[in-house]
Amino acid sequence: MKLKLLKEKEILMTAAMNKMHSPQSFALMKQKGQKITMITAYDYASGSVVATTDIDLILVGDSLGMVVLGLDNTMKVSMEDMISHGAATVRGATGKFVIIDMPYMSYHLSARETRINAARLVNEGTGHAVKLEGGSAGRIQAIREIVDMEIPVCAHLGLTPQSVLRYGGYKVQGKTDAAYEEIFQAALATEEAGAFMLVLEAIPESLGKKISEALVIPTIGIGAGRYCDGQVLVYHDLLGYSNMSPKFVKAYNDLNQSISRSIMEYSKEVREGSFPGREHTYYPIDKQEG
Ligand code: KIV
Repeated sequence: MKLKLLKEKEILMTAAMNKMHSPQSFALMKQKGQKITMITAYDYASGSVVATTDIDLILVGDSLGMVVLGLDNTMKVSMEDMISHGAATVRGATGKFVIIDMPYMSYHLSARETRINAARLVNEGTGHAVKLEGGSAGRIQAIREIVDMEIPVCAHLGLTPQSVLRYGGYKVQGKTDAAYEEIFQAALATEEAGAFMLVLEAIPESLGKKISEALVIPTIGIGAGRYCDGQVLVYHDLLGYSNMSPKFVKAYNDLNQSISRSIMEYSKEVREGSFPGREHTYYPIDKQEG
């Protein structure tokens, strides 16, 4: 018992000192009832600013495709996109645990491709874990393949955006008894396959609660109610830096308006000649006296 307490203290102290969490410290946070905070980031700039906060972990989500690249869904995001943006985010996010999303088609075709792609996200993308969507037999096997390579896997159930064509839109999942039970069983299977964390998106609150209580691994909710072990929001949504506002989003800022105002002010000053001023000028030509 004493040894167990020492071990727990060591894990949490390592996380506090290095500011770098691990699958073990997240598990411990759940055991202790401490909420886990996650946010997405996509590049050096967003990674750097998140690194100045006390956020527990970063997800380089394939929402990248929609909020950064302007694609109409996440299914068109490539491995190259995720590697390049993943590595840029990690370069900025000193001391943060970073999960990188596996894009559509990178874990669907064969065990060999699944393994190679997961390893590329960790080696070239420099992430600390990967995330993949779905709870079908194929996806559960994909989790097993990746965990077998010593790479931590975060699972993702409920509204899985890479299934948007099959769903016919972005819709709350788990509304019928059968769908509710299917998601619950899939959640159990992700833990059994070795996932260290589970994202739950757009499901009824009671299902988020039931899964969070049944699993040992932490659940991270986005539109999954108040009883998950942690929460995640998309960087752009949280900051008012996007035009999307699903019910589950709370915008804590209005960056779009603030940026637009700053750019208008800059362009006005250039037009009227008040920018650049003397203080922005190298070897300014001083006004000649007399
Ligand atoms: O891609 C993403 O940003 C995500 C989060 C919404 C969980 O998967």
